[in-house]
Amino acid sequence: MILQLNDIRKEFKGRSNHSVLAVDDVSMQVEAGEFIVVNGASGSGKSTLLFTMGAMLPPTSGQVVCDGTDLYALSPSRRSKMRNLRIGFVFQTFNLISYLNSLENVAFPALLAGSSKKAAMQRAEDLLNRLGLGERLSHLPVELSVGERQRVAICRGLVNAPDILLADEPTGNMDPELTQETMELFRGINRQGQTIVMVTHNPELSETGNRHVLMEKGSIRAERIVSAEDKAL
Ligand SMILES: Nc1ncnc2c1ncn2[C@@H]1O[C@H](COP(=O)(O)OP(=O)(O)OP(=O)(O)O)[C@@H](O)[C@H]1O
Ligand SMILES: [Mg+2]
Repeated sequence: MILQLNDIRKEFKGRSNHSVLAVDDVSMQVEAGEFIVVNGASGSGKSTLLFTMGAMLPPTSGQVVCDGTDLYALSPSRRSKMRNLRIGFVFQTFNLISYLNSLENVAFPALLAGSSKKAAMQRAEDLLNRLGLGERLSHLPVELSVGERQRVAICRGLVNAPDILLADEPTGNMDPELTQETMELFRGINRQGQTIVMVTHNPELSETGNRHVLMEKGSIRAERIVSAEDKAL
């Protein structure tokens, strides 16, 4: 098992005692090789849950256990290191570095993880080629279309061959054709063993993975295994 979430609650405390319970008592396990699609309406807590899984947002209570290690019991620097090596994250808002080109943005986490510049750049170029961005290697984010930026963000999430890829609305800004291509890519890397948790508010993508989780108001409302017959429909 790669990740285990135990009774996760996340409460955001705002001004004047106003608070939001964004995630309410969620427990789930992510097994190696799974492709989990988390669906739910806007505001149902999907991104909050994914950030918590991704070692970026401490829960108010509960644990996230990665290979036997409680992520939020680690010091922030050890947690960052573990995140860099083991968890790839594709942000809903991309978070590309504005002054780095596509190649450099994708190579950056590999350099942080200690790869040589040559190896990092080569891997970044291979990934960008695979996602059809071979002609956009030296473009800055501002010089890319929104869908292209999203593909750069996906490549960056994959560059360290993470144990688990967490993707927040990775097709949110893509047209239907590109959405299909990107889902084909995700299914392909999943068949090669890449574990994926993908969050989307697009109900049409709920059959894409092997397991579907539906969130409602911060909790898991329903969960089911997606069979081959479901996918054929
Ligand atoms: N930093 C924050 N401070 C206060 N409230 C927050 C914060 N982040 C999220 N929330 C609230 O928590 C709830 C869940 O937010 P979250 O971003 O997880 O939803 P989501 O399911 O990802 O929605 P979407 O599909 O629109 O991306 C929302 O009601 C949101 O307003
Ligand atoms: Mg979100």
